Amino acid sequence: MAAMSKIATGNGHGENSPYFDGWKAYETNPFHPIDRPEGVIQMGLAENQLCFDFIKNWLIKHPEASLCTAQGVNKFKETALFQDYHGMPEFRQAVAKFMGKVRGDRVKFDPDRIVMSGGATGAHETVAFCLADPGDAFLVPTPYYPGFDRDLKWRTGVELVPVNCESSNDFKITRVALEAAYVKAQEANLRVKGLLVTNPSNPLGTILDRETLKNVVSFINEKNIHLIGDEIYAATVFMDPEFVSISEIIEEDGVECNRDLIHIVYSLSKDMGFPGFRVGIVYSYNDAVVSCARKMSSFGLVSSQTQHLIASMLSNDDFVDNFIAESKELLFKRHKYFTWSLSQVGISSLKSNAGLFIWMDLRKLLRENTFEAEMELWRVIINEVKLNVSPGSSFHCNEPGWFRVCFANMDDNTMAVALLRIRTFVLKNNEAMVPPRKLCRRSSLKLSLSRRMDDLMSPSIMSPHSPLPQSPLVRART
Ligand SMILES: Cc1ncc(COP(=O)(O)O)c(C=O)c1O
Repeated sequence: MAAMSKIATGNGHGENSPYFDGWKAYETNPFHPIDRPEGVIQMGLAENQLCFDFIKNWLIKHPEASLCTAQGVNKFKETALFQDYHGMPEFRQAVAKFMGKVRGDRVKFDPDRIVMSGGATGAHETVAFCLADPGDAFLVPTPYYPGFDRDLKWRTGVELVPVNCESSNDFKITRVALEAAYVKAQEANLRVKGLLVTNPSNPLGTILDRETLKNVVSFINEKNIHLIGDEIYAATVFMDPEFVSISEIIEEDGVECNRDLIHIVYSLSKDMGFPGFRVGIVYSYNDAVVSCARKMSSFGLVSSQTQHLIASMLSNDDFVDNFIAESKELLFKRHKYFTWSLSQVGISSLKSNAGLFIWMDLRKLLRENTFEAEMELWRVIINEVKLNVSPGSSFHCNEPGWFRVCFANMDDNTMAVALLRIRTFVLKNNEAMVPPRKLCRRSSLKLSLSRRMDDLMSPSIMSPHSPLPQSPLVRART
């Protein structure tokens, strides 16, 4: 066969990471309550499915928003022909307004700076192409979304340098960590072109506080490098403290910032739960970047049919206000039920108030404090507990024992089965969790926990395939 390109034959897609392996395990044996009750439950997918009934109701009441209805078909021809890479004005206006609403209307977005792309995936690559040459580097705080290794690096030739954040301070992005990564990149002869922060964080489910954001802004200004803020989880903040966007910080009195350095990546994949629509946005404060990204957007336009639907939906203020409130409430309830249920078997997670996942701490279940032990535990969770969760190492976490678990991509019953499997597994492994030296003191604690659980669950309920007694929170909804 004639030789193919380095990009085609290289491993830049990163498909062989455990993050994707877990998906494969799920795909070969997906859980179904009746057809495949022993199947793998997908908890590795950051999807937001909780509001779909709410959205469906709106669609039923607004047939004109769709082109495939008697009420909408008169827009068919103009929409089918539309191909301007600036995007439909009504789409850009609606998205700009939505971005403002999601940020509590504390900041306004200019529709003329909205550039389309194929999801945040395409938006990240576009920004990387605009800002960096092959061999240049971006700093990225860990743990970070594994897709960045594909989106920013694969076709652009850009390098990512981790900013190592630690559990001892809840994975905060500190000035010390930023400086250390910057120096490391320089030592490796990499020219640092920017810093990429994800706020709210995937996988942590936490948000960056004002002080951290200000530190980040002053760091990038001092170094004269770009700041890319991935804010695709902005509307998933379901509990105080409220979300603060980088766009608010740069408008604050007393914050010195060269706005040409600031770029936001957004999408509707998480906030609205529409990853299939591929609505990605580059919002840059830099005119040259807007102009270049817009030209590049020809490679990843949002289809005009989708623009039409999104424009109709997001220009409806009532829908948007109610959707944002409903989504937050459902995420809050799911998160509370999930973390509460895990806490009942002694599993803790990083305190979080956003996102579609939790960052679960299974360090005490590791055979030893290594990434090999993390992978061993992960294999048991996939193959025996039959849950696809994602190991921390796939997020470049530098401490073994953390796992990301998604909680918004399934219905209540599947969630209950997943929780029961986790409980059954932990209870079965209780003794293994206890280091031999401390066995006496802690085992009595664990035994009493087991007994409480036994009291709670009859033998039939203890079957991993029967539903859990539901928390009062979930019962209240159903
Ligand atoms: C932080 C982050 N950025 C970007 C993406 C890609 O999103 P999209 O589906 O809009 O391409 C994801 C998807 O999980 C993500 O978590």
